[in-house]
Amino acid sequence: MTSHTTSSNIDNVLHETRVIEPPAQFAAAANLSREDYERLYRQSLDDPDTFWAEVAGELTWMQPWTQVLDWQEPHVKWFVGGQTNIAYNALDRQVALGRGDKRAFIWEGEDGEVRTFTYAELLREVKRAANMLISLGVQSGDRVTLYLPLIPEAAIAMLACARIGAVHSVVFGGFSVSALSDRLNDAQSKLLITADAGYRKGALVPLKANADAAAQNVPSLEHMLVVCRADCDAAMQPGRDVWWHDALAAASDGHQAASLDSEHPLFILYTSGSTGKPKGVLHTTGGYMVAASMTMQTAFDLKEDDVFWCTADVGWVTGHSYTVYGPLLRGATAVMYEGAPNHPDWGRFWQIVEKHKVSILYTAPTAIRSFMRQGDGYPNRSDLSSLRLLGSVGEPINPEAWMWYFRVIGGERCPVIDTWWQTETGTIMLTTLPGAFPGKPGSAGLPMFGVEPAIVTREGTELGPDEGGYLIIKRPWPSMLRTVYGDDERYRKTYWGEIPHVYFAGDGARRDADGYITVVGRVDDVLNVSGHRLGTMEIESVLVAHPSVSEAAVVGRPDDLKGEGVVAFVTPQSGYVLDPAAIRAHITREIGALARPDAIVVADALPKTRSGKIMRRFLRQIAAGKEIQGDTSTLEDPSVLERLQAADLL
Ligand code: WT7
Repeated sequence: MTSHTTSSNIDNVLHETRVIEPPAQFAAAANLSREDYERLYRQSLDDPDTFWAEVAGELTWMQPWTQVLDWQEPHVKWFVGGQTNIAYNALDRQVALGRGDKRAFIWEGEDGEVRTFTYAELLREVKRAANMLISLGVQSGDRVTLYLPLIPEAAIAMLACARIGAVHSVVFGGFSVSALSDRLNDAQSKLLITADAGYRKGALVPLKANADAAAQNVPSLEHMLVVCRADCDAAMQPGRDVWWHDALAAASDGHQAASLDSEHPLFILYTSGSTGKPKGVLHTTGGYMVAASMTMQTAFDLKEDDVFWCTADVGWVTGHSYTVYGPLLRGATAVMYEGAPNHPDWGRFWQIVEKHKVSILYTAPTAIRSFMRQGDGYPNRSDLSSLRLLGSVGEPINPEAWMWYFRVIGGERCPVIDTWWQTETGTIMLTTLPGAFPGKPGSAGLPMFGVEPAIVTREGTELGPDEGGYLIIKRPWPSMLRTVYGDDERYRKTYWGEIPHVYFAGDGARRDADGYITVVGRVDDVLNVSGHRLGTMEIESVLVAHPSVSEAAVVGRPDDLKGEGVVAFVTPQSGYVLDPAAIRAHITREIGALARPDAIVVADALPKTRSGKIMRRFLRQIAAGKEIQGDTSTLEDPSVLERLQAADLL
C-alpha cells in the first residue's frame, strides 16, 4: 500500500459515493432489520417512556423507577427513583442467568501471558476487591483514581468501585505525573490504585514512581493500592501503600452489591476542552448502564457466542463502555490486550484474533491506517475467518482505510460500522446497524435509538441535505454527561449554552439525503491526535510555563497516520535559545507523550491582530504547508507570516 496524501483523503470524503450493502449472510442473521430500526427509532422519539422502560426493564433494578425522564435543562435525571447497581448487572446477574462458567474476559499480556476469568471467577474477584476497598476506608460517593496498565485488575477495580458506589476516575497510564496530580486533586481522590509498572513495547513504564511523585501534593489522598504487574519492585510507603495481592488475599469474597440511586455518580473521566484545564466529565449509574447495554446489543449485533474485542485502553471512554461495561452487561466474552499493536511486530492484532477466535473487532482509524501502511502480508498470515463484524471509533475514517478494513481484514464478509460518539455522550450516538443498512465509507450514519441529531448554523437554524454545519443533539439521552465535575457552570456553557437549548457536540458535520451524517472534525480548539483529544490551550499553557518560551500557539495539521499532528509555534524569552528537544521533553513530562509536538516553529513573533489576538487560522495554513489565504490586513505586522513560512519545522 502506498501512502496517500491527506488532501486526497479529504477529496475522497467529499466525493465518496460508494455504498456497501450488508453482506447477505450477515443480514439474514442480524438481530435487527431495517424495519425494526425504523419502528423502534420512531418509538424512541415519539414515545420515549415506553421505549426506554422496555430497554431498562431487561436489566435488574433493586427498586423500580417511578419516572423515566426528568429534564430541567441543562440537568437531567433518568429512571427517577430507581435503584440499581451496574456491577451487579454486569456480574451477579450473568451468573444468575447461567453464565457462571462462561468466559467474561480473555486477557492477553504484551509478553504473551494469557489470563481468563469466567463470570463466576470475575464476580468472586470483584466481591473481594469491594471488601478490600471498604477495608481501606472507601465509602459510597468517595472518588478513587486508577492509574493502571490494561490488565484485568483495572476492570476489577472499576467494577469494585461501582459495586460499593465509589466513583472511579481512570487516568490513562500514558499520562504524566502532573496530569495525574491535577486529576487526583480535581476529584479529591481518597485512594489511588496503580501498579509497580506497565509494559509498553517491551519496556517498563514506571507507574508507581509516577504515582509517588504525583501524590506529593494531593492532600485528600489516604492510600495507594499497588498491583504487582512486573517484578513487585516498588518502594512502598508504610501506612499509605498496600499491595493489591496482600489486601485482596485478606478480603472476604462475600459481598452484596450496594443498591444505588439511578443518578448515583458512577465515574469521572477527564477530557480536553477548548480552554486550559481538562474537564471531569461525570456519568451516573442508571442511564449509562441502560445505554451501554442497549448499544452493545444493537450496534454490535451481539450474539451469545461472540468474542468481542474492543482494543481501547480503559483510560478512554471507549474502554469504559465497550472494553468493560458493555460486553459484561450483555454477558459477552470480551478480549483485553495489554500492549502495543506492533509488538513484537505489526501482526500482533491478527494473531490475537486467530488465537482467541475474535468475532467482533472494534478499533480506531489511526490503527487501521498504520496496519494498512504495513501492507496485506501481516493480516494474510493469520486466520481471520472468525471475524464477522468490524467497528471503527475515535475520529473520521477515510474511505481508503474503511475499504481496506472491509476488504483485507473482513474479507468482504464483515460489515464495517463507523461509530460516532464522545466522552460526554457515554455511548454510541451515530452508526448504521450492521445487518440493516449499507455502509457508506467515511460516513458514521444514522442516529441510535433516542438520539435526535441535527446540523445547524451557529445561530441554530437547521440546514438542509449536504449542507455543512454544527452537529447538535436536540434532546437528552440516558448516557449523557450530567455535569463537569466541580464546575457546573462550565457544563452549562460548553454544552447547552453555545447554541440555546440543544447539546453542542463541538463537531462539524453534514447529513445526506438518506439521513447519513458525516462528521468531519472538531470546530473548536480541540485536536484529535490518533483518536485522542488534546486541547490546544492546554498545550500552550504548558509551553509558556517553560523558562525559554515567551509565547506559544498550537495548531493541528493533517497527518496521514494520526489524523492530526501537533504543531507548536513558539517565541523565545529574551536571553534564551529555544531547544526543540527540551520543549518536547517538557511537554512529555507535563502532559504525556501523546501531546508531544510533531513540529516546532521558532519565531520572533506570532501573527496578531492590533488588539493582540493570535490569528490561528494563518498558523494552520502555515503548518499544513499551504498558501496564506484570507484577509491579512487586520494583522499588526503582516510580514510575520512570511518569516514564519520561511522558518524551519523543527
Ligand atoms: C471526538 C470525541 C468516542 C470515543 C472515542 C473518542 C471524534 C469520535 C468519531 C467518528 C468522526 C469521531 C469527534 C468527537 N470522533 N468518533 N466515528 N467519526 N469523528 O472520544 O476523546 O471524547 O473524542 O472524537 O471529533 O467529538 P473523545
